[in-house]
Amino acid sequence: METLKELFEETLKDVYFAEKTIVKSLPKMAKKAKSPELKRAFEEHTEQTKGQVERLDEIFKLIGKRASGKKCPALMGLVEETEELMGEVKDPQVLNAGLIGCAQAVEHYEIARYGTLRAWAEQLEMPKAVKLLEATLAEEKTTDEKLTKLALGRINRAADEDTKAPAAKRATAKPATAKPAAPKTKSTSPAKGKVKAASSGPATRSAKTPARKK
Ligand SMILES: [Fe+2]
Repeated sequence: METLKELFEETLKDVYFAEKTIVKSLPKMAKKAKSPELKRAFEEHTEQTKGQVERLDEIFKLIGKRASGKKCPALMGLVEETEELMGEVKDPQVLNAGLIGCAQAVEHYEIARYGTLRAWAEQLEMPKAVKLLEATLAEEKTTDEKLTKLALGRINRAADEDTKAPAAKRATAKPATAKPAAPKTKSTSPAKGKVKAASSGPATRSAKTPARKK
């Protein structure tokens, strides 16, 4: 491989392999998902992925090459992790949260690849390929955002609630290490107190408080 064009072709084969693999993997994830919204999200993205394969077919045509994939160990690793999760996690809520995590790992892989390919296509002055790659890149980003919304909207919380009860029973002996430092200071400014009281309730360790809304 000596030229950027060759590198572009090789990476195109990489994502072609990835998309073809994802088309097979997503329905399995949809089947395993216990949340109807998550199931739907995986099913929708399966259809979308088929369209992404077609876009890659077009790009291969544009460069006058036969569409073919090249085994991508990175993607295979992500798929393996997903299968491991589906085999290991018994709790349905935790499984939902885990499936989103796995799907997002794949999305981020694709976002990285398509971002690179688009930049190379631009450099190689292939405007039609740029458009096609951009269309797929936008879909991957939207899917990633949708998964984040599902996770923060309810799925992560449901997974946590589900594990909290047994965890509380187990964790009776855990000493609070952070406590001694804070409670000693007894003077809190009365002026600020009012403001604090209003906002201290919903503030939690999560930085994304908007996700808590119903
Ligand atoms: Fe994709």
